[in-house]
Amino acid sequence: MNSIRGKWALITGATSGFGKATADLLAQNGCNVIITGRRAERLEAQTNILKEKYGVHVLPYCFDVRELGRSVEMANDLVSREIVPDILINNAGLASGKDKIYEGLISDWEKMIDTNIKGLLYTTRSILPMMVTRNEGHVINIGSAAGHTVYPEGNVYNASKFAVKALNEAINLDLAGTNIRCCSVDPGAAETEFSNVRFHGDDEKAAKVYEGYKPLEAEDIADIIYFIVTRPAHVNISNLLVYPTAQRSVYVWGKKNS
Ligand SMILES: NC(=O)c1ccc[n+]([C@@H]2O[C@H](COP(=O)([O-])OP(=O)(O)OC[C@H]3O[C@@H](n4cnc5c(N)ncnc54)[C@H](OP(=O)(O)O)[C@@H]3O)[C@@H](O)[C@H]2O)c1
Repeated sequence: MNSIRGKWALITGATSGFGKATADLLAQNGCNVIITGRRAERLEAQTNILKEKYGVHVLPYCFDVRELGRSVEMANDLVSREIVPDILINNAGLASGKDKIYEGLISDWEKMIDTNIKGLLYTTRSILPMMVTRNEGHVINIGSAAGHTVYPEGNVYNASKFAVKALNEAINLDLAGTNIRCCSVDPGAAETEFSNVRFHGDDEKAAKVYEGYKPLEAEDIADIIYFIVTRPAHVNISNLLVYPTAQRSVYVWGKKNS
């Protein structure tokens, strides 16, 4: 087992859901964390909680991953502190809207493409060179089951997560010959703020997504990430697809009353 105690993990989108749970679990295991997100109050609260609960170092950076300059600023600040992240978790992302492609909102599409694809690229381009120089590191990309199979009205979200799958494979190929590992974790339905965001704050509609079965929880994904990053250095899990037991594909469900 590869201990993460005293290492540094950078987690984008750590104010909620998978990112928040992962920051908590890694910190609980002695890992220092760099947490990002746009909601300043949540970041500050999370910083204080993690420091107090686990006694680790916590560095918050409040910014939108769609702004390249802010990723570069963060990377420069880390360099000035002589911190090279040992683990980068590209998690910040969202679905926005669920409509037929001929009715979709262009603003939703831009949000998803700019966050899920370009945001992930900006963070990776800012941080990965430091890992390459040190010839050490681990990149985790949060993809989705939606990046394996397209579903009706998923169109642009599906495309953005197919892109994450392709980029995860590409990053792995380009890292051949280095000690840096790279894995995508691709969850099926998980109950986080994901559906509230997707349905633009319609909480009733969001709650319906999780009716009649037990969805994955944010902590399940955090557990999986912890497992991946604690494998010995010669073990590179390159992709992990995980569904709740009640969901066997994006189409096949074992829901009660359905
Ligand atoms: N829940 C699911 O069913 C599911 C399934 C498969 C994959 N995923 C993927 O898992 C990842 C995490 O989602 P989640 O389920 O944990 O949802 P969530 O609870 O809504 O969390 C999303 C996180 O991403 C951050 N974020 C979103 N847009 C951002 C931006 N432009 N700049 C910076 N941070 C941004 C949010 O922080 P701020 O709002 O504070 O910026 C938040 O911390 C996403 O990539 C999502 O596509 C989710």
